[in-house]
Amino acid sequence: MAATRSTIKSLLRDGQPGSDVHVAGWVRTRRDSKQGFSFIELNDGSCMANLQIVVDAATPGYEDAIRRVTTGASLRIVGTLRESPGSKQRVELHASTFDVLGEADPAKYPLQKKGHSFEFLREIAHLRPRTNTFGAIARVRNCVSYSIHRFFQQRGFLYIHTPIITTSDCEGAGEMFQVTTLPLDRLAEGTPTKTVDYGHDFFGKRASLTVSGQLEGEIYATAVGPVYTFGPTFRAENSNTPRHLAEFWMVEPEMPFFDLDDNMALAEEFIKTIIQDALSECAEDMAFFNERIDKTVLATLTHILEHEFKRVSYTEAVDILLSAGRDWEYPVAWGHNLQAEHERFLTEQHFQQPIIVHDYPRTLKPFYMKCNDDGQTVRAMDVLVPRVGEIIGGSQREERLDVLLTRMGECNLDPAEYWWYGDLRRYGTVPHAGFGLGLERMLLLLTGMQNIRDVIPFPRTPRNADF
Ligand code: 4AD
Ligand code: MG
Repeated sequence: MAATRSTIKSLLRDGQPGSDVHVAGWVRTRRDSKQGFSFIELNDGSCMANLQIVVDAATPGYEDAIRRVTTGASLRIVGTLRESPGSKQRVELHASTFDVLGEADPAKYPLQKKGHSFEFLREIAHLRPRTNTFGAIARVRNCVSYSIHRFFQQRGFLYIHTPIITTSDCEGAGEMFQVTTLPLDRLAEGTPTKTVDYGHDFFGKRASLTVSGQLEGEIYATAVGPVYTFGPTFRAENSNTPRHLAEFWMVEPEMPFFDLDDNMALAEEFIKTIIQDALSECAEDMAFFNERIDKTVLATLTHILEHEFKRVSYTEAVDILLSAGRDWEYPVAWGHNLQAEHERFLTEQHFQQPIIVHDYPRTLKPFYMKCNDDGQTVRAMDVLVPRVGEIIGGSQREERLDVLLTRMGECNLDPAEYWWYGDLRRYGTVPHAGFGLGLERMLLLLTGMQNIRDVIPFPRTPRNADF
């Protein structure tokens, strides 16, 4: 076989006219000309653009093979790269041999026509990566993941693998998926109290899928310095919104000797770096999103890069909302959660840029956040961005044991179950802080996609775990 296989991306960028090349991929379209040539648009997923393949009808085996070259079929082609006379591409490939590796029956292949709805494509999540949009999302998601690692690695953070199965509820919202080997329904039936004895379960106590790696992150941060975890997290929130998944990816840095201001500065630098990397490393895909998905995406991202995130306290944010002179679906009052409509008003209309809301009422936030001296608020921060709302949640952590124990009491948590978390304060406690960025929320911001189900390969949502 002539030449080792090249990706279409490398050929379109660097391929030299006159060189012999070998490519393989999937047919997007085929057109036969009356002059005795067929033109095949081939895509291998390495980039958005297709490679144009020119097949001369005089090529051996042409008649038999070309019939099988239909949309979705897989091909291996060996040939010579030529300068393309067309203006659409720099080079095209003149085939000397081509093999159809796998056919795709035109009467059945679901991706014949362009312009399928995203709802329909969710039903064929095994084929949607072959579309332009989902190929682009896969490449940008990959780029962002790499960018996240690079950001922390360059700053000396250690990547820590925190457990997926856990017996602690970090966020305290009771939204955990249970992990068990017990036949729960049968067990409870046979007991006088009709309650399950987890002492007999696999871990000897009730266990769940993690909602956050933060608590374990704190263990390492108070031993080896700044760390980050990056992995799947699980929440059984029954909220069927375009911004919630039951399984999503979160990156959570945790920094010893950091206060809330340090935390906010790092979060801002982090988001801006991810945006910059996506724009420079996935320029073609980002241009596609701007053209086909949301015409404001590139302008929004550039605007974000050029402005400092505005920092507003929760109390100031509530005042702004109260004096906005608008009717809200959810009423605004100090002590209530900010709803999506409030977050969007603040970022899209009032400030028109990302904001960091800090110092929330302690009743709204988990037990681990550092209490302010006012007795009312905690050192929390949420980063809100236009169109998406909350993209990061974080805080300075409570490092004083006595205050932490009081907060656990307020949140109905048993300090005995968090004995190890208490030990971090008992022995060599230090001020520390961290945050969590939802990877899929970041991708919504970058791509302009509307629904979070479309920026993760295989979404898990209430009543849906197919593929
Ligand atoms: O604000 P959250 O709940 O914060 C934590 O879990 C902290 N333990 C983080 C930390 O300080 N280490 O979640 C953090 C982020 C949110 O801002 C959001 O981007 C994302 O995770 N997120 C979700 N993304 C998709 N689907 C869901 N159901 C999400 N819940 C949170
Ligand atoms: Mg949050």
